[in-house]
Amino acid sequence: MRIDVVTIFPDYLAPLELSLIGRARRAGLLDVVVHDLREATTDRHRTVDDTPYGGGAGMVMKPEPWGRALDAVLDGGPADVGRPRLLVPSPGGRVLDQAMARELATEPWLVFACGRYEGIDERVLLDAAQRFEVTPVSLGDYVLNGGEVAVLAITEAVARLLPGVVGNAESLVEESHEDGLLEYPVYTKPASWRGLDVPEVLLSGDHAAIARWRHQQRLERTAARRPDLLAPTAADDPAGLAVVP
Ligand code: ADE
Repeated sequence: MRIDVVTIFPDYLAPLELSLIGRARRAGLLDVVVHDLREATTDRHRTVDDTPYGGGAGMVMKPEPWGRALDAVLDGGPADVGRPRLLVPSPGGRVLDQAMARELATEPWLVFACGRYEGIDERVLLDAAQRFEVTPVSLGDYVLNGGEVAVLAITEAVARLLPGVVGNAESLVEESHEDGLLEYPVYTKPASWRGLDVPEVLLSGDHAAIARWRHQQRLERTAARRPDLLAPTAADDPAGLAVVP
């Protein structure tokens, strides 16, 4: 998979050189290219923002550097992979979940446009839609200072699903959100620590009993912490047809 990131803070993406993602890049499983938006400016001050038309607080990212930067990404990208996906992190985007991560993991080429300040001039996305599949994406219902942290999170969530990136493929299946339930609690040695004992059943060697216990723990945890994952919401089921046991 190829990933391009356009940002005014290339150093923010340095963690993508570490750990499993860094190893995947060195192994050639993932090609990440980070571009400095200021390289696409033409003025002495390398200006990327200006005041908003219509007034209001803050600054807006100017269209011209973005247009040039995205053109350059397209020109320098892999041939023959069709329209790349342009992901635009913003609190108003589609909220990332495991299903979306799985969907993105099937794409050959992702391009991220990291906004700062009050956002990017809307015409950049309208223009880009002619050449990219544009998808605004959010990490959740809170506001960050810019898209870079979202790029780190999305890249990690997606890249770990690519074949060969995570060593033990089974660990991808038995995980929170993979099948709609949260993960069961895990323990390792010692069996007793600070007066707290590992649950008896895990020491029993009875694999069927362990599987039953773990499934029960997943249900209880999900009900306690994330009941929304168990019960369909009004948005999922506007007619109220689903019966919740
Ligand atoms: N940029 C600012 N806030 C964000 C959020 N919640 N998710 C993704 N990108 C953002």
